[in-house]
Amino acid sequence: MPDYTLKVRRFDPDSGEAAYWQEFGVGLDPERSVLDGILQVKDDQDGSLAIRCSCRAAICGSCGVRINGKSALACNTRISDAAARSPGGGSIVVEPMGNMPVLKDLVVDMDAVHWKKVQRVVPWLLPEGDPPEREYIVPAEAMIDVTQSMACIHCGVCVSACLSLEVDPEFIGPAALAKAYRFVGDPRDGQTEERLKDLAEDPHGIYDCTHCFACIEVCPKDVAPMSQIMRLRRRATGDYEIKDSNNGYGHEKGFTDIIEKWGTLHEAQLLPRSFGDGSMIKGQTEPGAVKQLVESLPTAARGLKAGKISPRKALLHPKLPDQKQVRRIFKTIESKEERLELNLYIVGELGEAEVEPEPDEEASPS
Ligand code: SF4
Ligand code: SF4
Ligand code: FES
Repeated sequence: MPDYTLKVRRFDPDSGEAAYWQEFGVGLDPERSVLDGILQVKDDQDGSLAIRCSCRAAICGSCGVRINGKSALACNTRISDAAARSPGGGSIVVEPMGNMPVLKDLVVDMDAVHWKKVQRVVPWLLPEGDPPEREYIVPAEAMIDVTQSMACIHCGVCVSACLSLEVDPEFIGPAALAKAYRFVGDPRDGQTEERLKDLAEDPHGIYDCTHCFACIEVCPKDVAPMSQIMRLRRRATGDYEIKDSNNGYGHEKGFTDIIEKWGTLHEAQLLPRSFGDGSMIKGQTEPGAVKQLVESLPTAARGLKAGKISPRKALLHPKLPDQKQVRRIFKTIESKEERLELNLYIVGELGEAEVEPEPDEEASPS
């Protein structure tokens, strides 16, 4: 039976000592989990080692830790895989999850962060009017749309990995926002617009996510929290046109308009458009927008100094050589009566090609 070494971050608040590292050797079959290794340490070497766990089958969501720096469920991580990915092929490094206070050893305070944020998004249905005599009838497609967010087991692994939360602990965060989409996407809910306004106006809400993909990468249930956040944004901007004070609407509109026109990002226009609800004129004339523009000048100056942007490039932004292709995609998508949502969680057959070729492209040889 192979031997593995676990290097565990220990912390006991009652001892009055700072956190420290401790190594333990364990003997386990390669297909066993990191959690099995930790439980073997508890059984055979040190019963005081604290870890929260229950199902040992990636269902209860209680054994979230960081293994070699990456947030994961300990019961869902093979010990041999963890050893292969350990720094320098040495000890498997096991730490408590990030972005949450440590209570003891590998146990973090989920109430203080994760559950508090879930409560923040009102995690229950708010139907309008009298309930029907029998059950609510919901279209199957609507339920398919929210199935992915319903798969969450509230392990907090995405919360631990979230880079925005590291910078802004007030950010509502990936798990709670995925939960919010579960109700925003449910046709039985009567507060969709109010929920979206609330999440768009909150400076720590849907526009605080930086699209780093970390939550998608670590989630053991493929909830893809970032995709749920993007769905919330699409609903807020595309369906309800919520012009929020965080400039989320303006940024998205400015960004897509620029890409439609130039095919690549015209950085010099993005800021004024973002501050002007997507409009270049409003962004340069409306007092509130001008004030924000002036406040951003030091950032623009730093970009110039670092060579990220040149005055020539800022003023004469070139179009993408094959800009026609980009416009064609916009035209095809905008000609649809309903917005197409690609829910990658539900795998199925694609229908006919969604992007129709232009007549002159059909005629040209391939
Ligand atoms: S994609 Fe957004 S929510 Fe997900 S981890 Fe990154 S910043 Fe956090
Ligand atoms: S979204 Fe995924 S990683 Fe985040 S709490 Fe839910 S199951 Fe865990
Ligand atoms: S012990 Fe239940 S998810 Fe790991």
